[in-house]
Amino acid sequence: MTIEVRQIREEDIESFHAAVGVVAREHRYLALIEAPPIERATAFVRRNIEKGYPQFVAIADREVIGWCNIPPASREVMAHVGDLFMGLLPQWRGQGLGERLLRESLVAADAFGYLRIELGVFADNPSAAALYRKAGFVEEGIKACDFDQWCLPRRGHHGALQGLRRLTPRRWPRSRSGNRGHRASTPRPA
Ligand SMILES: CC(C)(COP(=O)(O)OP(=O)(O)OC[C@H]1O[C@@H](n2cnc3c(N)ncnc32)[C@H](O)[C@@H]1OP(=O)(O)O)[C@@H](O)C(=O)NCCC(=O)NCCS
Repeated sequence: MTIEVRQIREEDIESFHAAVGVVAREHRYLALIEAPPIERATAFVRRNIEKGYPQFVAIADREVIGWCNIPPASREVMAHVGDLFMGLLPQWRGQGLGERLLRESLVAADAFGYLRIELGVFADNPSAAALYRKAGFVEEGIKACDFDQWCLPRRGHHGALQGLRRLTPRRWPRSRSGNRGHRASTPRPA
C-alpha cells in the first residue's frame, strides 16, 4: 500500500483527531488521556495550515495513520523553538514509517526556520527515544513527572521525562537495520 507523507490539510482533521485518540487511549506514550475536543483539534490544525507551521501526516487509504506536529512554542520569546509531538497507529509501527515521518517533518521544520526543536519522551518509551537520538536529538535532562495523581497510576509511569533537543540542521544517519519490518509486532496491513 502506498503511504503518503505530507503537510496536513483540512480534509484530514477528523482522522487526525481519531488517530490521536487511539494513541492517547493506550495511556502509555502521550501526555494525554484522550484526544482533545474536536473543536480544539480543528482550531489547532487550521492555525497550522494558515500559518504554515509544520504538521505532517502519514496517509493510507485517505486516513491519517500517523502525525508529526512541530508548531512553535507558545510564548512569543520562544518563537524560534518548535515543539514536536508525534505518533503512529499501533499497526503501523516498526516498519520505518516513524522515521520517514520524522525525517520529512524535520526537513519542513528546518525550512520553516526553527533554530531549535524540543520534545519530551517518557523514560519507559525506548523506541521513541532511540528514534529521536537517531535523528540527532540529545538528552538535556530528566524531568520529574508533573502529571496529576489520577493520571500517573493509570499510565504506570515512574515519574521521569527526558528532554531532548535537536540543533538544526543535521545529517540524517543511515539506518542500521535497513528494512525494519522484522520489528513490527502486528502484521503490516494489506
Ligand atoms: C515512536 C514511533 C513514532 C516510532 O515509529 P516507528 O515507525 O515505530 O519506528 P521506525 O520503524 O521508523 O524505526 C525508526 C527508529 O526508531 C527506533 N525504534 C523503533 N522501534 C524500536 C524498537 N522496538 N526498539 C528499539 N528502537 C526502536 C530505532 O532507532 C529505529 O531505527 P533502526 O531501525 O535503524 O534501529 C512509533 O513507534 C509510535 O508511534 N509509538 C507510539 C507513540 C509514541 O511513542 N510517540 C512518541 C511520543 S514522545
